[in-house]
Amino acid sequence: MALLEVENLQVSFDMPKGALFAVRGVSFSLQAGQTLAIVGESGSGKTVLCRNLMRLCQGNSRARGSIRLNGRELLSLSPRQMRGVRGAQMAYLFQEPRTALDKAFPIGAQIAEAILAQENIGKKAARERAVELLALVRLEEPEKCYRAYPHELSGGMLQRAALAVALACRPAILIADEPTTALDATVQAEVLDLLADAQKKLGMALLLITHDFGVAARLADDIAVMYAGKFVEQGKAGEVLYSPRHPYTWALLAALPGDHPISYLPGRPPELSHLPEGDAFAPRNPYALEMDFLKEPPQFWVTDSHWAATWLLHPDAPKIAPPVYVREGKVVVEEGYRGKTAAV
Ligand SMILES: Nc1ncnc2c1ncn2[C@@H]1O[C@H](COP(=O)(O)OP(=O)(O)OP(=O)(O)O)[C@@H](O)[C@H]1O
Ligand SMILES: [Mg+2]
Repeated sequence: MALLEVENLQVSFDMPKGALFAVRGVSFSLQAGQTLAIVGESGSGKTVLCRNLMRLCQGNSRARGSIRLNGRELLSLSPRQMRGVRGAQMAYLFQEPRTALDKAFPIGAQIAEAILAQENIGKKAARERAVELLALVRLEEPEKCYRAYPHELSGGMLQRAALAVALACRPAILIADEPTTALDATVQAEVLDLLADAQKKLGMALLLITHDFGVAARLADDIAVMYAGKFVEQGKAGEVLYSPRHPYTWALLAALPGDHPISYLPGRPPELSHLPEGDAFAPRNPYALEMDFLKEPPQFWVTDSHWAATWLLHPDAPKIAPPVYVREGKVVVEEGYRGKTAAV
């Protein structure tokens, strides 16, 4: 049995003008210690998906489907039962560390409090564990950090402190929602390293949300590509990077810097309250077939661990070899790729 099993999860928001479908039938599973990266443009539903895994949902939202953690259905737990799951079994690391930390209390007290809320240990033991955690996230002088207030730390240090809070109860799953976007490139690399290291030491599963394929390539065992509330391609990291099959994945990869003219993806993601007929990506897809405008594509399996939801994989569709892929750490864009090239 997988640690986490998500089946056909749907999340909608009741809006004045009707429902907005932010997550449209997402299924995946996560094993202990595994890292799954979810990659997608802004607005594709990554945050809504992850917040709902922890039932951190807004009042106007509705979740359907199934989320099983160690076989236990989370969608039917009471708010009180759910509080016992959060932090202890699943923790959330936000994009903006200030969201996770209370500016009125020293960092150490916040970590100790998180431990005491879940575990029946004394204050002294909680304090010791907090200092250990501050050392684990490689904050220098952990004793001093223990007493520091959030405003006394830099952005990178704060993200480490927020990670220490998230790790306080040794969760089985850490959901990291764009944990490095707010940081500069060098600090970003350090924090990613740290995440990987903490994950190994604690044997956690990691659900890593990012819009950066480079970040996914560094850390992930598996990659899921999300567009307009759905996973459109999923597989082992190598399969998705070296042999991507969905035109959306090609577009995301071709937009990365490399030895090729950078492409961009024209248009915008669809309005989730007014989804088009057929495949939501069709209007932006230079490889769209007639069928794409009529009917949503099912998942076509490429290997027993890799699938993509594109009509291009239908046996009757024209055979197209991936025109964009990663080789030796670099994105290759074949001549003839139909993406739009950015003017220099
Ligand atoms: N409380 C809400 N009420 C209504 N719509 C919402 C609410 N929260 C999110 N949405 C909508 O759900 C969609 C998905 O948003 P989400 O924040 O999950 O995107 P994302 O993939 O995390 O993007 P980003 O990369 O910018 O963080 C968006 O269209 C957003 O406007
Ligand atoms: Mg987000």
